[in-house]
Amino acid sequence: MEYRYCGRSGLMLPAISLGLWHNFGDATPLATQEDIVLHAFEKGVTHFDLANNYGPPAGSAETNFGRILARGLKSHRDEIIVSSKAGHYMWPGPYGDLTSRKNTFASLHQSLRRTGLEYFDIFYSHRYCPEIPLEETVQALIDIVKQGKALYVGLSKYPADVAAKACAMMAEQHVRCLIYQDRYNMLCRKPEARHIDMLENEGLGFIAFSPLAQGLLTNRYLNGIPADSRVYKEGAFLHKEDITAEWVEKARRLNEIAAGRGQSLAQMSLSWVLARPRVTSVIAGVSSVAQLDDNLAALSAPAFTAAELEAIDQILGDSIARQ
Ligand SMILES: NC(=O)c1ccc[n+]([C@@H]2O[C@H](COP(=O)([O-])OP(=O)(O)OC[C@H]3O[C@@H](n4cnc5c(N)ncnc54)[C@H](OP(=O)(O)O)[C@@H]3O)[C@@H](O)[C@H]2O)c1
Repeated sequence: MEYRYCGRSGLMLPAISLGLWHNFGDATPLATQEDIVLHAFEKGVTHFDLANNYGPPAGSAETNFGRILARGLKSHRDEIIVSSKAGHYMWPGPYGDLTSRKNTFASLHQSLRRTGLEYFDIFYSHRYCPEIPLEETVQALIDIVKQGKALYVGLSKYPADVAAKACAMMAEQHVRCLIYQDRYNMLCRKPEARHIDMLENEGLGFIAFSPLAQGLLTNRYLNGIPADSRVYKEGAFLHKEDITAEWVEKARRLNEIAAGRGQSLAQMSLSWVLARPRVTSVIAGVSSVAQLDDNLAALSAPAFTAAELEAIDQILGDSIARQ
């Protein structure tokens, strides 16, 4: 495993982290989840990314991860980085959503109980909510660190100027914002236009979620939609309408470039993100140990040639979201 310093902090993260958004809820056998988590740890994946609402049902990914921790990883607590998040809808009523102090603390306490942890290594504000005063959310994050309930805090899906303000507020109270988390992959390049300068100025690490575009940037859909794809799972954000003939043709051509590099398409997609400026880590999701192993092999990739990068951009064309 390759470890990278997270921005201008002293914390290193593995280049490939494991995300538990899908496939770690109650619909997946615990034994399957445990195999993936323990295998990841054995291979040096020291960072596991959770959120209050991961499942389904919401909360079950944290509960299941807590069970796996208690059984197989308890004595390794100091060797792993566990993150969680608050800010998306979690329970009914006025306090189960958004980023108020009430929601942030209640959600954090629930997440600690579900995982059985005494503290999170990283706790995120999961999204920016303009209806909540920024100072209120940021003060909650600062207090979470000061109370020892998280070692570091981070922001996810915040506009760059708001993130910069939040970092400044934290710095005034001697808390450093560690990390920024957003979607970034060959198809979604919005952070390049919106966040790179902020990351550089504030010294934040950058962790990319959905680096495989939920499986679109892999060989998963080259021959139809497999029955065990996330497309058919409860609570999926990838839909069969996303797997168009036009997309499959693009994926096939990307797959040829990957093959020319001696990589699977998933590996090339991860290598592409990891080669971009300021990226600390990619958070990949997997539904099997085989996918995990395939992804980990991305780390022995050859550097991209200018011709390969250009060919990728040409194939993707107007499928790339830049702004
Ligand atoms: N901050 C946020 O708001 C936010 C939002 C989204 C995600 N995240 C984080 O980012 C993590 C990753 O997101 P994601 O699950 O969308 O990530 P992703 O890595 O883009 O997609 C993962 C899916 O791709 C397929 N896959 C993975 N490796 C493969 C391989 N080698 N070959 C073929 N297919 C492969 C699997 O699909 P199948 O399951 O169909 O096999 C897997 O579930 C989440 O778990 C979460 O921790 C954060």
